[in-house]
Amino acid sequence: MAKVTRRNLLLAAAPIAAAPVLGKLAFEGDAAAADRTAHHAHHAAALGHAAMIGAGAPAVGGPHDLDALLHPPPALPYEPGRLREYTLTALDKEIEVAPGVFFPAWTYNGTVPGPVIRATEGDILRVRFANAGSHPHTIHFHGIHPTNMDGVFEIVDSGGQFIYEFEARPGGMHLYHCHSTPLKKHIHKGLYGAFIIDPKEPRAPAQELVMVMNGYDTDGDGENNLYTVNGRTFYYARYPIRVKRSELVRIYLANATEFDLVNSLHLHADFFRYQPTGTGDNWEYTDIVVQAQGQRGVLEIEFAQTGTFMFHAHQSEFTELGWMGFFDVVD
Ligand code: CU
Ligand code: CU
Repeated sequence: MAKVTRRNLLLAAAPIAAAPVLGKLAFEGDAAAADRTAHHAHHAAALGHAAMIGAGAPAVGGPHDLDALLHPPPALPYEPGRLREYTLTALDKEIEVAPGVFFPAWTYNGTVPGPVIRATEGDILRVRFANAGSHPHTIHFHGIHPTNMDGVFEIVDSGGQFIYEFEARPGGMHLYHCHSTPLKKHIHKGLYGAFIIDPKEPRAPAQELVMVMNGYDTDGDGENNLYTVNGRTFYYARYPIRVKRSELVRIYLANATEFDLVNSLHLHADFFRYQPTGTGDNWEYTDIVVQAQGQRGVLEIEFAQTGTFMFHAHQSEFTELGWMGFFDVVD
């Protein structure tokens, strides 16, 4: 496993930050940093000469690897009592989160974040959970449900199973995550995902996207070394998200970052509407949203122009350590 410290990663990222397209993120002392970077060979190779968009962006994998995490299953119309079933299996899995950087994750169904779970208010949600991992785990859902379905008291040992079943409510953007102790570790290792409950009154049709913000502490010092949306550094810089101008884009955004108190999403060159927790009539009009650990919400936007729109954490360090991408807005 590659040894990556937060400091080394910052140094390695410096030449990227100084690239013309990222002028505003220029890192001080970049000449010296670039020099040292040359000696951090495995990262320099991946990060050092990158243009920060397209093939040069230091992201792992192919263009459709994260489709299942980015594009939620379709919303279904309100039909109280309908059964919605999912199967989640906890698995230990080493995942490549940045080129050459592997993280010994604990996952739901092999990915970090785990699969998107979606139901409509009034559905009966049934989640069959099997623990094929090496530690005791649970699934704790945000939302309203009986406490014996809360994923806190019924710890599922290695090899065990549990069926969570409850009515999905309230409509909103929620989260699910493991609630075994030590909690910080179980969450940080990767056991979390987006949990969308569609309101009875359906939202307008849209190009729907899911973004779960996270971090990875790859050297076990209690600080994150890398930050991403949907699990891989700079993935949407390498593969910008294509959307259509003037058509509604809806983003379900959640913060599953451990160790750092807040994370954020900032969009360049346009404004969006933001509904905290995806509930109520409380919409804000802004170009930045800050979420504490576990917070989430719904963003809506119709891009007014075509072009390449950057989005990233407004914590510059998070940006340089992987949490940055682009929308490709087309007609
Ligand atoms: Cu766990
Ligand atoms: Cu939680």
